Amino acid sequence: MTIRRLPETLVNRIAAGEVVERPASVVKELVENAIDAGARRIDVVIRDGGRTLIAVTDDGMGMSAEELSLAVERHATSKLPDDDLLDIATLGFRGEALPSIASVSRMEIASRVRGADEAWALRIEGGRIAPVKPAALARGTRVEVADLFFATPARLKFLKAPRTESDHALASVRRLAMAHPEIAFTVSDDGREMLRLTEAQGDLLDARLARLAAIMGQEFADNALVLDAEREGVRLTGYAGLPTLNRATSQAQFLFVNGRPVQDRMLGGAVRGAYQDFLARDRHPMVALFVAAPPGAVDVNVHPAKAEVRFRDAGLVRGLIVGALRHALAAAGHRASTTVSQAALGAARPHGGLPYPTATWGPLPQTAGLAEDTAPYSAPLPGTAVPSAAPGAATVAEAAAAHPLGAARAQLHETYIVAQTADGIVIVDQHAAHERLVYERMKAALESGGVKRQMLLIPEVVEFEDEASANRIASRAAELAELGLVVEGFGSRAIVVREVPALLGAKDAGALVRDLADEIAELGDGLALKERLEEVCSTMACHGSVRAGRRLTPDEMNALLRQMEVTPHSGQCNHGRPTYVELKLADIERLFGRR
Ligand SMILES: Nc1ncnc2c1ncn2[C@@H]1O[C@H](COP(=O)(O)OP(=O)(O)OP(=O)(O)O)[C@@H](O)[C@H]1O
Ligand SMILES: [Mg+2]
Repeated sequence: MTIRRLPETLVNRIAAGEVVERPASVVKELVENAIDAGARRIDVVIRDGGRTLIAVTDDGMGMSAEELSLAVERHATSKLPDDDLLDIATLGFRGEALPSIASVSRMEIASRVRGADEAWALRIEGGRIAPVKPAALARGTRVEVADLFFATPARLKFLKAPRTESDHALASVRRLAMAHPEIAFTVSDDGREMLRLTEAQGDLLDARLARLAAIMGQEFADNALVLDAEREGVRLTGYAGLPTLNRATSQAQFLFVNGRPVQDRMLGGAVRGAYQDFLARDRHPMVALFVAAPPGAVDVNVHPAKAEVRFRDAGLVRGLIVGALRHALAAAGHRASTTVSQAALGAARPHGGLPYPTATWGPLPQTAGLAEDTAPYSAPLPGTAVPSAAPGAATVAEAAAAHPLGAARAQLHETYIVAQTADGIVIVDQHAAHERLVYERMKAALESGGVKRQMLLIPEVVEFEDEASANRIASRAAELAELGLVVEGFGSRAIVVREVPALLGAKDAGALVRDLADEIAELGDGLALKERLEEVCSTMACHGSVRAGRRLTPDEMNALLRQMEVTPHSGQCNHGRPTYVELKLADIERLFGRR
């Protein structure tokens, strides 16, 4: 066996194996180069999913004839002027992309330095460089990569259908475009325009939001909370979608570090952690987070495709993200996404033949003017005996104006509260809302040292069918006490309940304990109840005073609305479903064709 130095072309092909995985990697490298060259417009053309052609044209600073021949040499870069790998302000820095791509394709680069009289072009085939010759090009740089992987047929076999490859290529341009709203982009595939982004106007934040709207959808832009936080020189800006705007995968989560799109498990975990109270485990929020870290705080030279980074202090960045997201979500309070009310509007729009919505207040009066005829609406609900609490027209107007969730006007189907606000109506799912209130209050109480308990006048003995269930409750007695439920074993198959959480009230402690036993069986032994507070509280809230199917007095309804207003996160239940929807008068007018 003799050791030998590998020929240059082979070295480049080996490097290409890491850098150029598929057409999308080529697109990404070429677009990054165009961005680094200060381009304001970048056009990408691909054919056959990038297999026969990838062409990227920019209007950036361009290259001279000498620079052109140097650019395709390995480890030749203009981007590390101080030889400092920890101070990288550009997307590229290794001088590896062009020679790697050129070693597995037929590449032609034409370029013209800004202000220069002539343009130059260079051809390379499978790594063999032809001399530079004059070319016709008005400005910037145009790189054409034809017959990708012709020199490495094994790689060709790994390519997926053209459609799949072009989707990946498009996704990589979209990601880069999100971080560069000042640049206009187009992508076309077999002559079809796949993406057209005009340069976004305004200051950075406006421009960024406009660009995000163009890529993630207007719905995201309308339902996103702005983020801006800083810790020890690391700054986080960007947008976080309301929890009610959620997705089945995490693909609508975009993370950027110093303008570079990255995939980072730590950052992904931070997002999950921040939203976990608001979303079911299989739902994912939409976010676009931009982390700006000073040189030295982040190492970008840790991944062949530069898709991952390493932070010097990962804990700091995680804390920054979780903190900023939680803060924004808390400040958003009970806001639910417009998607929810739009979906409701869509459903309510009178399609032909749909019956009128039925309400407990009966059919609409046909003759009397609506304004004078408010009495039936504010009368106490059937079956309630609190006439004094029925608000008159004047107090309704006051309450409606004074409170964001307005004044309760009716309860429908013993499940929904309808309230009048200053400029619209609000429909509350009383059960979902109450579940959220209980959860938030328990959490707050736990944080400040314990949940308030209420002693039962007569302790309640709960019999179980089997010993295991009784044991499950008894063995968690200490934890349950912290949550306000005081129990102890009673013989082998029963337990006795002495105190219950005050905010649930005393009724039917037996049913509550039985459900909790099931819940605990499902959770298994490993987890502390506090870590599963969400499930436990849902179970408890189900046994609280307000459930679906229970008739409420006006006082009770208004009390619920007022509690929601002062409770953080009350706009969605523990599973990310909204607890209420709001329809503005303007929306309702539109429904009736008045606008
Ligand atoms: N579109 C372009 N416009 C102007 N100069 C370019 C362009 N593309 C490449 N160059 C020049 O060619 C050099 C080599 O490009 P290449 O992509 O191979 O390496 P890099 O961008 O420096 O680093 P990396 O391998 O990390 O991408 C760049 O440093 C840059 O000077
Ligand atoms: Mg590069």
